[in-house]
Amino acid sequence: MDVQQALLTRRTIPKYEPGPIDEEALREALTAAVHAPNHKLTNPWRFVRVGHETREKLLPIAWELKKAESPEARETIRKKFMNPAVLLVAAQIKTDDAFRAKEDYAACACAIQNLMLSLHGRGIGSMWGTGGPTRDQRTYDLLGIDRDKEEIIGFVWVGRAAAVPNPPKKTVHGVLPRISVSRDDRDRRSGIRIECRWGVKKGQDESFSTLR
Ligand SMILES: Cc1cc2nc3c(=O)[nH]c(=O)nc-3n(C[C@H](O)[C@H](O)[C@H](O)COP(=O)(O)O)c2cc1C
Repeated sequence: MDVQQALLTRRTIPKYEPGPIDEEALREALTAAVHAPNHKLTNPWRFVRVGHETREKLLPIAWELKKAESPEARETIRKKFMNPAVLLVAAQIKTDDAFRAKEDYAACACAIQNLMLSLHGRGIGSMWGTGGPTRDQRTYDLLGIDRDKEEIIGFVWVGRAAAVPNPPKKTVHGVLPRISVSRDDRDRRSGIRIECRWGVKKGQDESFSTLR
């Protein structure tokens, strides 16, 4: 699968079949994660792999936060926690510098995306989740994560997809900023010709601009 195809076909997988995944694929995905861009080479990420025994202990936290009291509601959450082959808890190493923290979060997001795309390239599903348990102190305690030093930024569920959602096709329409340049502006910026073209034709699902 080439990069563009991987980017366009990766989907967030909410439901998993139980069963293992190829451990080598996981190692490769984590290698891809730590190759993410990170300003000042802070390498601000940390991944904790959470096994099924510990996941059992996380379950009551999820049940409580979701107010899951019926056996059916609890079973749905149990499957969510227990079916994926792998649960990675992604954490960001904290810093007192607010700007650095922002850049580090961006780097962590890149790392998680690298991880998910690498897995997708191997036919393995994943999902980044930021539900209540990711922010609950009991989760930190259970996983032995010191909240003064690290912040959990998500659970990354990994495994064999039970189904692949098919959300509406995404296009770049309306995403790019509209650039409005008056003739006077163009004339003033001699040597720079700015040409804007927008895909406004009926049936065209992309918009784009060309700057020269
Ligand atoms: C920071 C972040 C947090 C997310 N948290 C959740 C979550 O808690 N629950 C969930 O179902 N999806 C979560 N997602 C996945 C998004 O819902 C998903 O990316 C979005 O629906 C688009 O679907 P796609 O990933 O298949 O393109 C999260 C994504 C990001 C980037």
